[in-house]
Amino acid sequence: MKARIIGTGSYLPEKIMTNYDLEKLVDTSHEWIVTRTGIEERRIIADDQSTSDMATIAAQRAMEMAGVKPAEIDLIVLATITGDYPWPATACVVQANIGAKNAFAYDVSAACSGFLYALSSANDFIRAGSGKKALVIGAETLSRAVDWTDRNTCVLFGDGAGAVLLDAQESDSGVLSCHLYSDGNYLELLYQPGFGAKHPPSVEGIEAKLPYLKMQGNEVFKVAVRSLTEVSKEALKANGFGSADVAQFIPHQANLRILEATTKRLKLTEKQSFINVNKYGNTSGATIPIAIDEAYHQGLLKEGDLILSAAFGGGFTWGSTLIRW
Ligand code: ACO
Repeated sequence: MKARIIGTGSYLPEKIMTNYDLEKLVDTSHEWIVTRTGIEERRIIADDQSTSDMATIAAQRAMEMAGVKPAEIDLIVLATITGDYPWPATACVVQANIGAKNAFAYDVSAACSGFLYALSSANDFIRAGSGKKALVIGAETLSRAVDWTDRNTCVLFGDGAGAVLLDAQESDSGVLSCHLYSDGNYLELLYQPGFGAKHPPSVEGIEAKLPYLKMQGNEVFKVAVRSLTEVSKEALKANGFGSADVAQFIPHQANLRILEATTKRLKLTEKQSFINVNKYGNTSGATIPIAIDEAYHQGLLKEGDLILSAAFGGGFTWGSTLIRW
């Protein structure tokens, strides 16, 4: 029994923020951002929308593609670090929105690796025979977690959501493997210090900008490239494949330089590697399902194709998956 992707969907907010718009907010330039990150523009959520709204639309699109009704869904796993509330889970909001009355729902917090953690969790659930259909969603409103006066971080991120619908099928296609890792020793290189139990809400905390994402980009970069390469090789080796067998490499879209360095180390060609970070920036847990949805609709994913995906993010967390489409 395998967990096969039978539907994909995504939602990107209408509002586009270009690098030129950012030039008006912080001391930066279109040229600096493109050269260092490959990002040209990103999407920003509307004032009256939240993470669950984007996740709901992405999930509905995935169900529509698969022709699956809400009552058929057994499980909803939502990867996010920018949920609607500290608790309860944003997955529960989505469950109510789509009317998935037979599903149980929970969030996964693994930053940019969140979607692969969520996929792995749903895959295990299906393989164990505990249910048949699972929605796996990545949705982020990072525009509300970045400090718009910090040029080191605000130029990198964007908002969006993506979803895949998994179905239990006796098939050669589906999720072949998931490899996940964490190392909490690197926590402070990439994190959001407040407000949680460690730093509860306070006026001093707001003044110290604790509720905003903090990152030491240089350090993250080095570990990201190494980890993404190693964990991708692990996925291929575990399944007896090599780089040449990969139809599409759909990695977490953090930064073009990270993607190019990883692709090169994996000896993958440009044609094998899917990139859309130029259009949306880093949407953390949402980049991979958005990219899968776009790749599918561009006709890049054909039945039987091998899809390799890998992610790296705060925690640190990292992981990979190999999927037979
Ligand atoms: N515009 C202009 N100048 C800037 C900007 C900006 N937006 N941001 C930083 N700078 C300046 C710095 O202040 C610094 O100036 P200084 O030399 O006078 O001190 C200079 O540019 C170089 O800064 P670095 O941080 O060394 O620049 P670097 O080449 O490392 O690029 C970047 C920064 C893009 C963040 C890079 O380190 C990176 O991509 N890191 C990966 C981090 C990442 O993508 N994290 C996302 C989450 S984790 C993940 O998804 C992998």
